[in-house]
Amino acid sequence: MRVQLKGDAICTLFLVVALCTMLYSQLGHTSVREEKANGQRKPPATSRIFPIPAALQQRLNAGATAAKPRTISEVKRAKVEIQEDLTTTLAPLTHSAFDFKGYLRNKDNRKFELLVNQPKKCRTNPGGPFLLIAIKSLVEDFDRREVVRKTWGREGPVNGAQVQRVFLLGVPKNKTSLPMWETLVRQESQMYRDVLLWGFQDTFFNLTLKEIHFLSWAEEFCSNAKFIFKGDADVFVNVENIVNFLEKQDPSEDLFVGDIIYNAHPIRVRKSKYYIPESMYGLGMYPAYAGGGGFLLSCSTMKKLSRACGEVELFPIDDVFLGMCLQRINLKPVMHEGFKTFGITKPSAAPHLQTFDPCFYKDLMVVHSLKVAEI
Ligand SMILES: *[C@@H]1O[C@H](CO)[C@@H](O)[C@H](O)[C@H]1NC(C)=O
Ligand SMILES: *[C@@H]1O[C@H](CO)[C@@H](O)[C@H](O)[C@H]1NC(C)=O
Repeated sequence: MRVQLKGDAICTLFLVVALCTMLYSQLGHTSVREEKANGQRKPPATSRIFPIPAALQQRLNAGATAAKPRTISEVKRAKVEIQEDLTTTLAPLTHSAFDFKGYLRNKDNRKFELLVNQPKKCRTNPGGPFLLIAIKSLVEDFDRREVVRKTWGREGPVNGAQVQRVFLLGVPKNKTSLPMWETLVRQESQMYRDVLLWGFQDTFFNLTLKEIHFLSWAEEFCSNAKFIFKGDADVFVNVENIVNFLEKQDPSEDLFVGDIIYNAHPIRVRKSKYYIPESMYGLGMYPAYAGGGGFLLSCSTMKKLSRACGEVELFPIDDVFLGMCLQRINLKPVMHEGFKTFGITKPSAAPHLQTFDPCFYKDLMVVHSLKVAEI
């Protein structure tokens, strides 16, 4: 009798557990379907938390309260970041695993060796280049460098003004996937004489190191350039427009022009690519900074920034870091409508034109987020 009772109890327990498991997996399935409907590729276990609307709300509120002319761009930017939030939730490990404590501990280690240099880059022309184009690139993106060399990044005169080019590289993070990388980079450097390689790991959070090292390289090896354009490899740059614009400027005066972002808030959503804990940046707002697609600066500003950036504490988002350096030298970056660092949209007045119609590009200076073939 007692044995039978025990058996019944175990049986009931087993059924209850089975029922719970079924219910749980059922719940899991509904959330998978919801995410698929929302256009996400993979269901991460953590996606039941919804940080996005809060972030959007915060950014939209900021846009509404700030009586600055950049409201539209801020809203646009908010959308871009929220899209990124959505995609980064797919691989939460890469970002939530970022070791902020380690970053803070190693922050003073900020001088790395220049492994490949172009010491004569700015000495080929007697007066130095009018414009130096500096492009952030990754070792493995050979095709991107090649397309830039063949299109907007060509060296030589543009409307009579001398243009020179360098690519800014660090050491690839995963060397086993690129076994010959250093030999290849050295060969590329011999062939094109446009590669700068530093000894730090080329990661998203080390782009600030790239910024600092490039500025001090420019100060040491290219202080005779009148102006500098610094940007990403996935942009289209209308160099003729840039030269025309710069010919009206004085290189010995301050100049910093781009797609300027005002009143941006640090993102406190842990899973965002741009997450910054309060322990790292306590203020509620970043200084004005230029969107990373590309910006222009004068020789005089380059020298001041090079020194200022050497004194500002490292910050893992390079665009914001440069904004901090600008703030330190008390220089207000200037917004220019020709810099479309969030891509371009067709104006409603011209729905019959293709996005790649030359008419869209004739007044622009920089357009961001393009694929190799599009460039
Ligand atoms: C590096 O790349 C190789 C080959 O692509 C891959 O098998 C390996 O898992 C990668 N290692 C890391 C740490 O990502
Ligand atoms: C930056 O590069 C250094 C030197 O290669 C490396 O030790 C560090 O882990 C990198 N930091 C980040 C955040 O990737």
